[in-house]
Amino acid sequence: MGTPRIVAISGSFSRPSKTTSLVQHVAERISDRYGFDSVTYDMVEVGPSLGNALWRKQLDDRAQHVFQEIVEADILVVGAPTYKGSYPGLFKHLIDLIEPHELKSKPILITATGGGDRHALMVEHQLRPLFGFFMAHTLPTAVYASDRDFVDYAVSSEQLGKRIDEAVSEVGAFFPTITANRAAAE
Ligand SMILES: Cc1cc2nc3c(=O)[nH]c(=O)nc-3n(C[C@H](O)[C@H](O)[C@H](O)COP(=O)(O)O)c2cc1C
Repeated sequence: MGTPRIVAISGSFSRPSKTTSLVQHVAERISDRYGFDSVTYDMVEVGPSLGNALWRKQLDDRAQHVFQEIVEADILVVGAPTYKGSYPGLFKHLIDLIEPHELKSKPILITATGGGDRHALMVEHQLRPLFGFFMAHTLPTAVYASDRDFVDYAVSSEQLGKRIDEAVSEVGAFFPTITANRAAAE
């Protein structure tokens, strides 16, 4: 196996975006700990062809590229902003264009952001079942962040950092050879 690739996908089309900043931060933490490559995409990068597509072949090249990256990723870090207690509709449409077998058994670290704490269980009640449909391996620890966890769109709270570390520590179980080799080298 070559260097595993993390694909971080943010369901936000805001720029700047707390969600994009969060998934990028989590992907960097995984990269630092395990030596994986990482790339981050947001909904702006997917672009406008998504809204009109019922099938992947109807997407333009840039959107096709993001889908290719998602389905070929060794691990996904997925993040969605909370809209009315759930993920945004356009993000769901992106997931709708993925075939069930393409995410089967894939490790997915799920994250979400929201204005406050009221919808903190959005990760458990909305995102986890969404990927359950695909029989993906969502990591046991999901990460939810609210406005007060960020300063200037950067992850800043210690509590959130600890939660991210907990989730990142669960990644190793999916890559036992790499984890064992790194432990032996330390
Ligand atoms: C249309 C809309 C609906 C929202 N609904 C909720 C909500 O139900 N619960 C919540 O906690 N925050 C809600 N928010 C706030 C966003 O979830 C929050 O600001 C999020 O971090 C934005 O992420 P972003 O910076 O990546 O766009 C809503 C924001 C918008 C624009």
